[in-house]
Amino acid sequence: MAHQVLLMQMMSMFGCARCSSDDGNSNIIATLPNCSYPSVYAFGDSMTDTGNGIAGFPDEFISSESDPNGILFPQHAADRYCDGRLLIDFLAFGVRRRPIYAYLRAFAGDFTYGVNFATSGSTARNVSTWDATAKFSTPFSLNFQIQWLRRYKVRLQFYYTQTRVNQSLPSLDALNSSLYVVYSGFQDYMSGFYDDSLTSQQASANVPSVVQAIVAAVQRIYDFGGRDILVVNLPPLGCLPALLTLHPGNSSLEYDEYGCLKKYNQPIEWHNSFLRSSIAALRTTYPDANLYYGNLNAAFYDILKNSTHYGILHPLSACCGHGGVYNYNKVVTCGHMGTVEGMVVAANSSCPNPTAYGSWDGIHPSQAVNRVVATAFLNGRHIEPDGGLNCSPDYSNWYTPN
Ligand SMILES: *[C@@H]1O[C@H](CO)[C@@H](O)[C@H](O)[C@H]1NC(C)=O
Ligand SMILES: *[C@@H]1O[C@H](CO)[C@@H](O)[C@H](O)[C@H]1NC(C)=O
Ligand SMILES: *[C@@H]1O[C@H](CO)[C@@H](O)[C@H](O)[C@H]1NC(C)=O
Ligand SMILES: *[C@@H]1O[C@H](CO)[C@@H](O)[C@H](O)[C@H]1NC(C)=O
Ligand SMILES: *[C@@H]1O[C@H](CO)[C@@H](O)[C@H](O)[C@H]1NC(C)=O
Ligand SMILES: *[C@@H]1O[C@H](CO)[C@@H](O)[C@H](O)[C@H]1NC(C)=O
Ligand SMILES: *[C@@H]1O[C@H](CO)[C@@H](O)[C@H](O)[C@H]1NC(C)=O
Repeated sequence: MAHQVLLMQMMSMFGCARCSSDDGNSNIIATLPNCSYPSVYAFGDSMTDTGNGIAGFPDEFISSESDPNGILFPQHAADRYCDGRLLIDFLAFGVRRRPIYAYLRAFAGDFTYGVNFATSGSTARNVSTWDATAKFSTPFSLNFQIQWLRRYKVRLQFYYTQTRVNQSLPSLDALNSSLYVVYSGFQDYMSGFYDDSLTSQQASANVPSVVQAIVAAVQRIYDFGGRDILVVNLPPLGCLPALLTLHPGNSSLEYDEYGCLKKYNQPIEWHNSFLRSSIAALRTTYPDANLYYGNLNAAFYDILKNSTHYGILHPLSACCGHGGVYNYNKVVTCGHMGTVEGMVVAANSSCPNPTAYGSWDGIHPSQAVNRVVATAFLNGRHIEPDGGLNCSPDYSNWYTPN
C-alpha cells in the first residue's frame, strides 16, 4: 500500500461542510494518512457498473445514459443507475484517483487509474444458461470479469513492449499494489426476489454457492497478484422500495423495527455472515494480503437508525419512481413511461432533493448513501480488519466523466 504520512491538518483542506456529518468522527480523520493507491479495479453488477452494461446491451440498459439517471453529473449521461456517484466512484476518488471507466468502453475512456469490469445484471455465480429475454440479466458473471482482468494485463504487457499505443495506462508494476473491489451477489438474489421466482428458503440454499463464487474471484485476484482486495457485503434487500412495494408482508410481524421485510433480509444476513467468515479464513491462507470485508449492510442500518443525522430522511423510499408508499411502481420505473389506471405517466425526473432518499430508483441506492458507505470504509468504520483502509479520503478532486 502506498499510504503516505499526513503532514497537514486535513479538515481545513476539505473545505467541505458535509464531510464531518458523513464521517462520524472528524477527530479520527485528522490523524489518518492520505488514502492512495496507484489504480483501482472493480468487479460486480449495476451497483458498480459505469458503462459495461450499456456497452454490451445498448437497448436493454439504454436508460442508464438517459435522464434522470446521472442527473447530478453536469453532462448527465453517466451510464450509472444512480442520481450521481456510485460507491466505486467515491472509493476511487477517496484514494485520490479519478472515476474508473468501463472495460467495454470503446472510445473516450480514461484508463489512467484502473478499469471497471462490473456489469449490470451480472451474477457472482457462473451463468450456465443465459436467457437473453430475461430483463436486466447479462452473462458476464464474476468469472468473466476476472478473465477480462487477465486479458487486460496481457494487453498492458503488449503495449509496454510495443510503442503503438499512445494512451495513459497504469504501469505493470502498479498492478499488484492496486486496490481491487469486489461487490457482487446482489443479482443472484434480487432477480428472483423481484419476480417472486425465488423463495426465502431457496435463497438461503443458494448462499454457499454465491459466496463460493465470490471467494473464487478473490482467490483468482490474489493469484493474479492483487494484495489489497475489498469485498463488499450485500445491503438489506428487504429494505428496497421495489420489494417492499411488490411483495408486502401480510402482517406487521413480517417487518422489522425499521419497516423492512424480514423474509428478504434473513437470507442476506446469512450470505453476509458466511461471506465474512470465508474472507476471515482467506486471511489465514494469504497472510501477505490485505483482505477487507466491507460491511455495507451495517452502514445502511446506521442510516436507518439515524436518518436525520445523515440527512437521509426517506431511507425506504425511491427518489425517482411513481407513487405508492415507497414511490415505486413496476410499470413506471425510473426513466420509463407506463400506463397507470388508464393514464400514461412518466418517471422522468428526479425528486427535488435526492440526497434525502435512501434509494434512487427503488433498487439502487442514492449517491447520498454511497457516500456514507465509502467514507465509512475509508475511515475504518464497518470494515474488517479493524481500521479498514485506514486513511483519509479526499473527494474534492472530482471531475466530470462523460
Ligand atoms: C494529502 O492529500 C492532500 C490533498 O488531498 C495534499 O494536499 C497533501 O499534500 C497530501 N499529503 C501527503 C503527505 O501526500
Ligand atoms: C465457473 O467457470 C470457471 C471458468 O470456466 C470454472 O473454472 C469454474 O470452475 C466454474 N465454477 C463453478 C462453480 O462451476
Ligand atoms: C502521444 O501523446 C503525446 C502527448 O499527448 C504527444 O505529444 C505525442 O505526439 C503522441 N505520439 C504519437 C505517436 O501520437
Ligand atoms: C505481481 O504478482 C504476480 C503474481 O504473484 C507476479 O507473477 C508478478 O511478478 C508480480 N509483479 C510485480 C511487478 O511484482
Ligand atoms: C400472505 O397471505 C396470502 C393470501 O392469504 C398467502 O397466500 C401467503 O402465503 C401469505 N404469506 C405469508 C408469508 O404468510
Ligand atoms: C443518533 O440518533 C440518536 C437518537 O435516535 C441520537 O441520540 C444520537 O445523537 C444520534 N447520533 C448522531 C451521531 O447524530
Ligand atoms: C416527463 O413526461 C411528461 C409526460 O410525458 C412530460 O409532460 C414532461 O415534459 C416530461 N419531463 C421531462 C423532464 O422530460
